[in-house]
Amino acid sequence: MVIFESSMNKDRRKTILITGASRGLGFALTKQFISHQWKVVPLVRKNKDATALKRISESSCFPIISDITSNSVHSSIRESMSVHDGIDVLINNAGAGGSGRLLSETKPDEVLTLIDIHCLGALRVTQAVMPFMMNDGIVINISSRFGSISKISTGELDHVACSYSYRIAKAAQNMLTQCMCREFKDSGIRICSVHPGLLRTDSASVDADKTPEEAAEILLDKINSMEHGRFYSLFEGTIEW
Ligand SMILES: NC(=O)c1ccc[n+]([C@@H]2O[C@H](COP(=O)([O-])OP(=O)(O)OC[C@H]3O[C@@H](n4cnc5c(N)ncnc54)[C@H](OP(=O)(O)O)[C@@H]3O)[C@@H](O)[C@H]2O)c1
Repeated sequence: MVIFESSMNKDRRKTILITGASRGLGFALTKQFISHQWKVVPLVRKNKDATALKRISESSCFPIISDITSNSVHSSIRESMSVHDGIDVLINNAGAGGSGRLLSETKPDEVLTLIDIHCLGALRVTQAVMPFMMNDGIVINISSRFGSISKISTGELDHVACSYSYRIAKAAQNMLTQCMCREFKDSGIRICSVHPGLLRTDSASVDADKTPEEAAEILLDKINSMEHGRFYSLFEGTIEW
């Protein structure tokens, strides 16, 4: 499946595809990688966001307009790849929060919607990008401490309110990550999950204490040393699955 080798073109620039790049962490990551001379392919839903991103750098930023809950995201990504020379890093970052915090408040439709974004969205995008991944590339699924069944089961997060739907969707995404980790263990492509920290964004939890720019800087710093199969907490170390 992997057709791109980093040795094929010595002049090529490292290229990253980031979903959910209109705001929050995805936007901060886009700016961070552009400022370090990467080519960035940000995926956004709205024309106005693509136009704003292109204005940051015509020569380094190549937005895709698509929705990760639509099967058409596959063809949108495939078409955009014709002008790129392989993808080094895929960051499945797009996400959304939920509302019902008790069993009695939890709406099954909201659970399905969040699984569609966090788990199936990452699945669709990764399926589309994999044929274009460099043979030493990395897939990073932006997860959450709330996706850790280990953390939820010990009760250590009981003091922070979080919806059933978000916890279930992030746990489902973590299982997707682990399934891919098993399949691609000998491929050279690294796959891991990252809890990005408690960031002051539109989806922030009440205890958020970091900026998305701080998280983006750390992620870029750590990307080369990230190991296949790990669940990282950007500001702390690793997390139990
Ligand atoms: N903030 C935190 O403290 C925190 C903590 C742990 C984990 N995370 C995770 O980190 C990631 C980024 O969070 P954030 O705080 O930066 O969120 P955010 O500011 O709310 O931004 C969410 C992004 O996802 C995009 N998005 C949502 N649904 C989409 C869809 N169906 N298709 C394409 N794009 C979609 C949004 O696009 P639009 O602008 O078009 O809506 C936006 O760009 C998420 O996965 C989140 O769960 C965040």
